[in-house]
Amino acid sequence: MSADKSGGLAGVVAGETGICTVGKAGLGLTYRGYSINDLAEHAQFEEVAFLLLHGHLPSRAELEAYSARLISQRGLPKELRTVLEQLPASAHPMDVLRTGCSALGCLEPEGPDRAALAVANRLLASFPSMLLYWHQFAQNGKRIETQSDDPSMAAHFLHLLLGQPAEAGRVAALNTSLVLYAEHEFNASTFAARVTTSTMADFYSAIGAGIGALRGPLHGGANEWAMELIQKFQSPDDAEAGVLEMLRRKELIMGFGHRVYKKCDPRTAPIKEIARKLARNEADRNLFAIGERIEAVMWREKSIFANLDFFSALAYHFSGIPTPLFTPIFVISRTSGWAAHILEQRANNRLIRPTAEYTGPEPRAFVPLAQR
Ligand code: CMC
Repeated sequence: MSADKSGGLAGVVAGETGICTVGKAGLGLTYRGYSINDLAEHAQFEEVAFLLLHGHLPSRAELEAYSARLISQRGLPKELRTVLEQLPASAHPMDVLRTGCSALGCLEPEGPDRAALAVANRLLASFPSMLLYWHQFAQNGKRIETQSDDPSMAAHFLHLLLGQPAEAGRVAALNTSLVLYAEHEFNASTFAARVTTSTMADFYSAIGAGIGALRGPLHGGANEWAMELIQKFQSPDDAEAGVLEMLRRKELIMGFGHRVYKKCDPRTAPIKEIARKLARNEADRNLFAIGERIEAVMWREKSIFANLDFFSALAYHFSGIPTPLFTPIFVISRTSGWAAHILEQRANNRLIRPTAEYTGPEPRAFVPLAQR
């Protein structure tokens, strides 16, 4: 390879963005210039989604109007509910969201009557509904009403999942995790959404491409795999022995490492503290101690740090969220970032079409079928 000798486009500047900085000297992780620490501590997810989509923090009136708009769009059309009911309980919830996104794109297509921003908000508002309508139908045979009036995305999600309003601590924890997951510059799923957008495809196609790219364990899928890993062990000592053995076999430890960050992921400290606070019984505290031991072993042996996905897994688990729903929560949040990037790509579009260095055979004579 010439321009990208290390593969994976590592270190390649593939475009410009005004939305987010990841690991930039003097900036760190920022959304539209605001530090992730300030946003995680003070902001509602809806405020962050507005910021990403509009470029400025909403005033109180703007936030109220925006939240009301999202709340009003939580309902699902009958045809979409029918599609969701056809999907088997064995389906992966990421496939369900990808399918729900496609189905809504058929029922409510982007076009002269439905602008890009309207589609973005509709998807943001309805992804939790799609996911949990299917979840409750497939797992419990229940057809739930998704048009709740819960004041926030986090409260709505937990209400639909648990069947009753969730306690404030869990809602606050989920809200912070949605803020942390909302945006991350040219990560694989955002880049997939931008590539799709650059062909002048519709909004739903770009979001669908993002969901597909996010599903893999090297990206968003890592939080599910991290949970499975932690649950394999009985105790911190058991985890230490198991992880050392995995490293000896050169296996990847999911929830560790990052392409851009070299010393730490700035999102890990806040989500780790949330997980620590949510651990309320002996079993939870044991899982947290296992997680911390794995973190210590990875740092001691490889100087590799836990990324956002590792302690998010524990925070979600302690909130009563089933593991297969972890990556879909990432979708629900990241739709705000994807949408901002789709709008930014459209505002100054040029087809994204790189070239490859050819490594195939020299030109050769075609041999007709009869002579082969
Ligand atoms: N476990 C064990 N070894 C690792 C890990 C890990 N999680 N991550 C990196 N390494 C090793 C890797 O094997 C390589 O070793 P060597 O030089 O001996 O070949 C070295 O560290 C450098 O890694 P790399 O493969 O060049 O790093 P990359 O930039 O290509 O990959 C990554 C980044 C995130 C894909 C990788 O760290 C990884 O696979 N992590 C596990 C999956 C994961 O947690 N993904 C979530 C990423 S962050 C949030 C998100 O997007 O969801």
